[in-house]
Amino acid sequence: MNVAAVSALSPAETVFAYHARTKHSLKRYAAGPETLDWDMQPNPFREFEGCARTELELGAGRLGTGFAQASTPGGVSAAALTIESLASLLELSMGLSAWKEYGPDRWAVRCNPSSGNLHPTEAYVFSSNVPGIHDGVYHYLSRDHALELRYESDNRPEAPARLWIGLSSVHWREAWKYGERAFRYCQLDVGHALGALRYAAGALGWSATLIEHVDSAELAAIMGLDRADAFAGAEREEADLLIAIETAPGTNPAAERFPAFVRHGDGNRWAGRANLLDPHPLYRWPVIEQVSQATQGRYTGLPSEFPDYPPRRPTDEARAAEVILGRRSAQRFDSKYRMSADTLYRMLDGLLDRPNAPWDVWNFAPRVHPVLFVHRVEGLDPGVYALPRHPAAADALRAQMRGDFEWQNPENVPAHLPFYRLSRTDCRIIARTMNCHQAIASDSCFSLSMLGEFEPVVSANPWRYRQLHWEAGLIGHALYLEAEAEGLRGTGIGCYFDDALHEVLGLTTTQFQSLYHFTVGRPLTDDRISTLPAYPGRQVPPLGETPA
Ligand SMILES: Cc1cc2nc3c(=O)[nH]c(=O)nc-3n(C[C@H](O)[C@H](O)[C@H](O)COP(=O)(O)O)c2cc1C
Repeated sequence: MNVAAVSALSPAETVFAYHARTKHSLKRYAAGPETLDWDMQPNPFREFEGCARTELELGAGRLGTGFAQASTPGGVSAAALTIESLASLLELSMGLSAWKEYGPDRWAVRCNPSSGNLHPTEAYVFSSNVPGIHDGVYHYLSRDHALELRYESDNRPEAPARLWIGLSSVHWREAWKYGERAFRYCQLDVGHALGALRYAAGALGWSATLIEHVDSAELAAIMGLDRADAFAGAEREEADLLIAIETAPGTNPAAERFPAFVRHGDGNRWAGRANLLDPHPLYRWPVIEQVSQATQGRYTGLPSEFPDYPPRRPTDEARAAEVILGRRSAQRFDSKYRMSADTLYRMLDGLLDRPNAPWDVWNFAPRVHPVLFVHRVEGLDPGVYALPRHPAAADALRAQMRGDFEWQNPENVPAHLPFYRLSRTDCRIIARTMNCHQAIASDSCFSLSMLGEFEPVVSANPWRYRQLHWEAGLIGHALYLEAEAEGLRGTGIGCYFDDALHEVLGLTTTQFQSLYHFTVGRPLTDDRISTLPAYPGRQVPPLGETPA
């Protein structure tokens, strides 16, 4: 496709063309930089000059909530909404969890994962009458665990305490390394960040809800991202989504859509100039801007109901904070280790659409369905399996996939789990090859591809191209944390050969497309890499002073 010809296309056509041209194939990778100078990597930390800063307290690691409790609304009593509990929410979602060091290299890792550790996602806090902090819009600077006041509002003591978090993406951070495919990775990262916020809210006894009916342009305005003066000479950020944090039953800020003070705000109250992240960008990838434009908008459908699954059985004693702060991507797996079928089924159960974390974050019916490549699971034949996350998807997948697939439930599968064996086969070589020849896809216990209901959903509303990736990111995030809670480890996989995978499954149309891959097993750790504290030199308050 000629890039200049794109403007003649409708938004949906632009998305389809973008998706097609950013497929990796066995013959060629999607367009990206030919060389990378790692010393010229964009600054991973956005900050705003000329804003008042508030350093936040640390100590979320001490929260006692169990991981299972954090996933269950009402599982633990809600912490009072104050600046300290807000600090814990941010620490456990968008905060740093460690610095890593290897030879002369030093890099930060965070609670939310990111393709290539490039972290294009930025977070904005909207606080209204939260004790300890002025009303306004703040940018969260993860490097310092600090808030930068970008818009100061008048405090209204009579107003209830409310909290919202907005997410945005700096596409260039990701495009610097991944070129045209980067828009997909940015959206997957947003899905992970959404999941990270939902689980962090759960650790505090709170929940989180995506505000669906806010348009991208409105979002950019309330986050101050459309202010030319603030971003002059620096990389722009694209608004992605707004989440209402419900901190006490019956105080759902989602009902208010977004804080009144920014809607009727005073344009002169904005402060701060964004820092320049990459002074010497070597490439430009105009299709990212085009697909970003084509997917502006908002949700326009009706809310869906949760299906009736039996409640999850809590089994773990792991603390949520420990799981969240300990989450890492496995870089290598123990290829001798076999996980139990019970563990696999517990993890898959966590992907079903129930009114608990992270699925209660929105009202969308599931549109993304894992297809597993099982390598090493005790009591389960190696092979290809499917987990359609709603009943109609099973029929649609069956109609689209290879005619010789079995569609049989394995003998020992829990009755409510829609888990089907498609084919008994050793799929290690296929999995490795499909995933850009990465051994993490074949040395693990299982890897998977997430098939999104693609063409019908995106044709009806191109904005849903983003949301499908957010759903895939949420699945990935649930898998990361579920694996960690089981003493295993996962890794997101953005690099895979799209159509080669579709061919293996017999998919010949774009009704379904693979949007993200993942792998889970027992990790092998690299002892040469040292781990240092996330915030060296910063005091953690004594026990009893952390939000409980
Ligand atoms: C969307 C996405 C795609 C990723 N793709 C790959 C991949 O193809 N191969 C890989 O080894 N790791 C992949 N990762 C893992 C990242 O490299 C990892 O999250 C990052 O280095 C940060 O490390 P952490 O997860 O331990 O915080 C991916 C992660 C995400 C979120």
